[in-house]
Amino acid sequence: MNDHLLSALESIYGDAAPDQVDRYEDALSAFRRAYGPGPVTVFRAPGRVNLIGEHTDYNHGYVLPAALDKDVLLLARLRGDREVRLANVEADFPQRNFAVSASIQTADSGDWSNYARGAAQELARTLGGNVPGFDGLVSSAAPLGVPRGAGVSSSSALTVVMAVALAHFAQWTPSATQMALFCSDAEWYVGTRGGIMDQFIALLGQRDHALFLDCRPVDGTFRHEAIPLPQDYRLLVVNSGVHHANVRNEFNQRVAACRAGVAILRREFPGITHLRDVEDQDWVDLEALLPETTTVTELKDAGHDLGDLPNVPADAALRVMACCRHVWSENRRVLAAVDAMQHNDITHLGDLLNDAHTSARDHYRISTPELEVLVDAARAVDGCVGARLTGAGWGGCIVALVHHESVDEFQQRIPPVYKAQTGLDAGVFPCQASPGAGMVLQMMV
Ligand code: GLA
Repeated sequence: MNDHLLSALESIYGDAAPDQVDRYEDALSAFRRAYGPGPVTVFRAPGRVNLIGEHTDYNHGYVLPAALDKDVLLLARLRGDREVRLANVEADFPQRNFAVSASIQTADSGDWSNYARGAAQELARTLGGNVPGFDGLVSSAAPLGVPRGAGVSSSSALTVVMAVALAHFAQWTPSATQMALFCSDAEWYVGTRGGIMDQFIALLGQRDHALFLDCRPVDGTFRHEAIPLPQDYRLLVVNSGVHHANVRNEFNQRVAACRAGVAILRREFPGITHLRDVEDQDWVDLEALLPETTTVTELKDAGHDLGDLPNVPADAALRVMACCRHVWSENRRVLAAVDAMQHNDITHLGDLLNDAHTSARDHYRISTPELEVLVDAARAVDGCVGARLTGAGWGGCIVALVHHESVDEFQQRIPPVYKAQTGLDAGVFPCQASPGAGMVLQMMV
């Protein structure tokens, strides 16, 4: 076994490093087959699970995610031109080539290379076009890669790993905050108006810690703090295996509902820009000012412009009151969750996770029947103190906080219950909070 490889892996995966060796060696061999012998640099970026703080980031609120030990690898070799050639160890993702420029043609909607193109275009714009290309190979297959379509940010991990590699070859050395903002802008290339959580945690994750992030910038910086995960408890992630098709449109409609709330509240609170600005108000006072629903057309007629939001039909009912209520209350739950973790008050932490789920289901309306089955099944296991959907919603995963002695029971009990009620397979895996993205090693193949 290659000692250089193993010691690089130990610094990232700790005791689980030996489980990674075959995967890295396979990827290195595949790279050599694709591009021939020579130097290679290996980069990685993790997926994430959000403990609490859903749909708060684009409202300048608070989030509390952790980086998974499931990650996307990118093996790359600098080229002498602007061309990026990208292969993938999985046959479902065919080879894609494009030239780095400030205006890169998008591939078909849903094509895996769009995340890579977004990062490359953003970097060419940032650095004024001076970005070299590379030959690359992506490895993110199960079980050690980031599950796709599961709401654990496989797409952000791909964007981030691309950005880290491109920046490395262009000798651009941004701060982690600069890089996270850069990657968040790069993802807008694919049309989702998401926030900054996924990119920050992919870059700033720390082993055994969640990341408290205040998504409101102050003088260009963001307050963040690594919060130790509870010692006797594990975060278990359960993938429903269901992923709804038009999440992007639904997502943007929720963003629109929040922006509508801000526009309407601005009459009473001049100068506010995000829901975060009314966090200290009493909800009853805010509720009295908000309509249950409105539309883009009605807002326009009243002189409010919601900004650039693709795929929000002008006549779609935006559920302003309920969406704002979720965001307002979720921010408070995140702060309370950090406090509970710092005081080792696990019962309270569990209750907050449960409340967050109720709010996401009833107010933001992002749950699904499958996620409900999983949340109920999880809570029925002794030793599970709380469970909620995690990520954007409309399918994907739940996260549960489970006493370490109940982990085996949890892993055994959930899949059959889920199968019996839905006919589907649930994938259960523990979140071993891992370090953020970066270069893993350089070597010859
Ligand atoms: C997606 C977005 C994030 C965040 C979550 C919901 O993952 O990319 O920015 O908004 O949904 O919390």
